[in-house]
Amino acid sequence: MTETLLKVSHLFKKFSDHDSYYALKGINFDLLKGECLGIIGENGSGKSTLSRIITLLETPTQGDVCFQGFSILDYNKKAKRAYYKDVQMIFQNPYASFNPLKTFGYSLKNVYHNQGYPSQKAESAALQLLERVRLDASFMKRYPHQVSGGQCQRVAIARGLAASPKLLICDEITSDLDMITKTSIVELVGELQKAYDLTVLFISHDIGLVKYLCDRILVLKNGEILEEGSVQKVFKNPQHPYTQQLIDYGL
Ligand SMILES: Nc1ncnc2c1ncn2[C@@H]1O[C@H](COP(=O)(O)OP(=O)(O)OP(=O)(O)O)[C@@H](O)[C@H]1O
Ligand SMILES: [Mg+2]
Repeated sequence: MTETLLKVSHLFKKFSDHDSYYALKGINFDLLKGECLGIIGENGSGKSTLSRIITLLETPTQGDVCFQGFSILDYNKKAKRAYYKDVQMIFQNPYASFNPLKTFGYSLKNVYHNQGYPSQKAESAALQLLERVRLDASFMKRYPHQVSGGQCQRVAIARGLAASPKLLICDEITSDLDMITKTSIVELVGELQKAYDLTVLFISHDIGLVKYLCDRILVLKNGEILEEGSVQKVFKNPQHPYTQQLIDYGL
């Protein structure tokens, strides 16, 4: 039987007590261990709100998120620390997630130092990771402003992997990239998913990339899941007119 890594139940999110607007309206889904689940939906449909709740950056108004069977909302300090390592998030703008005053070498080694690696071991592990995301050793000495968007995203992915996560959340990681770079980053994520036995939540506007990479897909609109199913099934026989529209327009 396939194991559920993450279970999202009846999730609601309202940002203000003063209005009745809900960014999420009762989201339910299971993320199975080892799968790549795609979430697509137009701007403002609630994708980032969902990923921010899963990564404990926001709290839900109602509902629950369970990781490996336990509610993340009940985590104590120690459990949160372990969770921050187990669940890594990659963002749309990788530059904003690095300290501009530190080299990539520093940022990568820092993740290993936090796991107790001695200096020499952290250095070689960081170098190995760079190689894994197809960047050469010169990137150890570079600062964020000295690389392209695609290269910076590769380092961000490497830094996420340095924590040996169980779940990788990619929130629009290719939105600022050109078509060729987009494709190569998505290919890299697919390759790393297999190599590291990762579970991936891949949030994107780009229905073509989701089709290429994901096993299953959720279609989100106005904070609700309209359709859910295997990529094969949803693309072949979409049940909801909105999904058909997304496919027709390529979102
Ligand atoms: N901190 C916040 N305070 C108030 N409203 C918010 C906040 N964050 C998000 N929202 C609102 O919640 C809704 C969902 O936003 P969210 O960022 O989750 O959408 P998204 O699907 O990620 O959009 P995009 O594709 O543009 O990234 C939007 O209407 C947004 O304005
Ligand atoms: Mg978003």
